[in-house]
Amino acid sequence: MTLWSGRFAGEPDEAVFAWGSSFGIDRRLFEDDVRGSLAWAEELARVGVLCAEEHEAIGRALEAMLTDAQRDASFVSGADEDVHAFVERQLVARVGERGKRLHTGRSRNEQVALDLRMYLKRRIPIVQASLGALVAAFADRADEAGAALMPAYTHLRRAQPILEAHYWLAHASAMRRACTRFDVARDEADAMPLGSGAVAGNSYGVDPARLAGRLGFSRIVANSVDATADRDFVAAFLHACALAMLHVSRLSEDVILFSSEEFGFFDLDDRICTGSSLMPQKKNPDPMELARGKAGRVIGRLAGWLATAKGLPSGYNKDLQEDKEAVFDAEDTLLGCLLAVRAVVSTLRVNRNVTGAAVSGLLLATDVADYLVAKGMPFREAHETVGGMVRSLVAAARSFENLGIDEWQRFSPLFDADIVQAVSPQASVAARTTPQSTAPQAVAAQLADVRAWLFARGCCSEVIVSPPERNRNVP
Ligand code: ARG
Repeated sequence: MTLWSGRFAGEPDEAVFAWGSSFGIDRRLFEDDVRGSLAWAEELARVGVLCAEEHEAIGRALEAMLTDAQRDASFVSGADEDVHAFVERQLVARVGERGKRLHTGRSRNEQVALDLRMYLKRRIPIVQASLGALVAAFADRADEAGAALMPAYTHLRRAQPILEAHYWLAHASAMRRACTRFDVARDEADAMPLGSGAVAGNSYGVDPARLAGRLGFSRIVANSVDATADRDFVAAFLHACALAMLHVSRLSEDVILFSSEEFGFFDLDDRICTGSSLMPQKKNPDPMELARGKAGRVIGRLAGWLATAKGLPSGYNKDLQEDKEAVFDAEDTLLGCLLAVRAVVSTLRVNRNVTGAAVSGLLLATDVADYLVAKGMPFREAHETVGGMVRSLVAAARSFENLGIDEWQRFSPLFDADIVQAVSPQASVAARTTPQSTAPQAVAAQLADVRAWLFARGCCSEVIVSPPERNRNVP
């Protein structure tokens, strides 16, 4: 029997009903549905819809269901239309007719909104801990890099020398933003919708503010028509997931490139690589390729969800049921990727002889121009002069390092003997003066700031982030 069978003379078409059922997906909301129902039962008792005995029996049965599910996750399964129908069927099976009073004044439209909001409020901190653990892994890499140098790239061409620590902290900065962005999604989710009914509100005297307090919400929704159709918190969550994946993907691309034979900057740990079934020499960075690929999937979840929501008329529409699959898939994908890329980042080895060798040469050209500026030449002219130098050095297959002072002076009389010390990768990084720069003191301050942020958020690299719960379909 469905939750709405009275209206219909016969049984629903089996195949179409099964196709439209969402229990295989929304079973993940079981815990939230039961906790929401416990609060609802309490409220119904307070306003006199349930007598004390009914309330007690319903409360006990709901608590027992939570225990049953904890003992055996497969308990949450069946041919029910959705998780709300499952919980009600279980309740009636346990307490009989009394269970049929629980749905008084409540609609699944507000119930599903409540469940998903509660779910996100409890899962977002887990996603954030996982992002924090990756930030901590970057901080550890920055620590370990010490004073080592590497080239920074623009247009994927060697641009300027930087501290390797600065490179890792660049990823830490992006991942910190990714983590903080979930605060917005959590805040969006933090509005309690019960009392909205199907669309017009509730007439049994329930107190949404009391329910909000009981369920740990900081506020209640403003409007019942909007509340039953509002999934902005879903879009905010998917947006946060998509941007986090975008950064995971960019990191992955770096690691794939830098660990290639062509760069040779990084050696990936054997344990996270895979081989080729045909070419015996291959050691492939599969986790990073998969993470890069899965970014497309999560961005698709956001774009797909926005497309689903954009055409809906006011009030609840069944299209909204699509939100759960998007949320769970984005969450699982992100958590899985974070687990994998963190393992890669924290176990890779940096070939400092290669990165160190790559910071000398023509990427010091900006420092040569800065030298001329210090001697009074206008920057545009210095750029022109050094550009000419680069042209002839490239033609002669030489670099700045081994030019004699007479050769320097052939390009400009402003070059003095001190040019030799002035133009080195170490001098280049040390010359920076802004806090966001690659100067050693600036990078040390950036690292200290990342550590302080991790501490304030209670994150550390030791955080054990459990693998994502799979979005299993129930047979
Ligand atoms: N499974 C539904 C969903 O996820 C629950 C709400 C159903 N409401 C309704 N009026 N059919 O949206």
